Amino acid sequence: MTDQQLQDQLKYYKERAPEYDDWWYRRGTFNQGDEANQIWFDEISTIKDAFKAEHFHGDFLELAAGTGTWSSLFLKEALILTIVDGSEEMLSHNPVVSEPNVRTIIADLFSWSPDQLYDSVAFTFWISHLPRERLASFFTMVSRCLKPGGKMFFIDDREVAGTRESHVVGTSGQTMVRKLNNGDHATIVKNFFGDKEIEQIAASVGIELHVHCTPKYFQYGIGSKTV
Ligand SMILES: C[S@@+](CC[C@H](N)C(=O)[O-])C[C@H]1O[C@@H](n2cnc3c(N)ncnc32)[C@H](O)[C@@H]1O
Repeated sequence: MTDQQLQDQLKYYKERAPEYDDWWYRRGTFNQGDEANQIWFDEISTIKDAFKAEHFHGDFLELAAGTGTWSSLFLKEALILTIVDGSEEMLSHNPVVSEPNVRTIIADLFSWSPDQLYDSVAFTFWISHLPRERLASFFTMVSRCLKPGGKMFFIDDREVAGTRESHVVGTSGQTMVRKLNNGDHATIVKNFFGDKEIEQIAASVGIELHVHCTPKYFQYGIGSKTV
């Protein structure tokens, strides 16, 4: 995957910003009917409960925070929440940006590096947008962000769900073509990493991570830095 493809991906999110939350809230073309929507929301509740049970706390870093579908939950646990995203347009919809104990950083995550250590790090619906060859370096960066004993959390799409959404035009190798409401098409990175593959990469950088899947839609992981 080239740097240009990663820039194109970020441009896609800048353009998608005003319509992004329709996916999360199952609105418009993402509405799959009461039964399927209920499963979606129930599985999210299960993962939120698993997250809350771990008592994340302290200096909390959220990478690729976007419109903030998870930021409010993270802010409840955090002393100070730092959110990083490359798109001002996505962040303009994030409700936590105006909160006093939130620090907002607009930066390209493929070149950004942390300026402090954190007790907690989270990234939601981000690792599936990493080129396979950059997964290990991303986890190295995450490990560098964490204090010893610090905790991490992620959630992403399971392949079976992520390829059947209404904005998916097609997939090829590491890429997926998506369409926007105005009909424009964009090519983004979309990978579905295996549970064990993610656990092993995390372990190689000192993070003991346990990855799970909900029955239909999501993959998530909770772990901590061991050294
Ligand atoms: C799928 S969205 C996830 C947003 C949010 N975390 C969520 O769960 O809804 C991916 C996010 O990554 C951001 N992003 C894409 N490329 C980026 C890059 N190179 N650097 C920083 N952020 C980037 C986008 O702006 C977008 O907010």
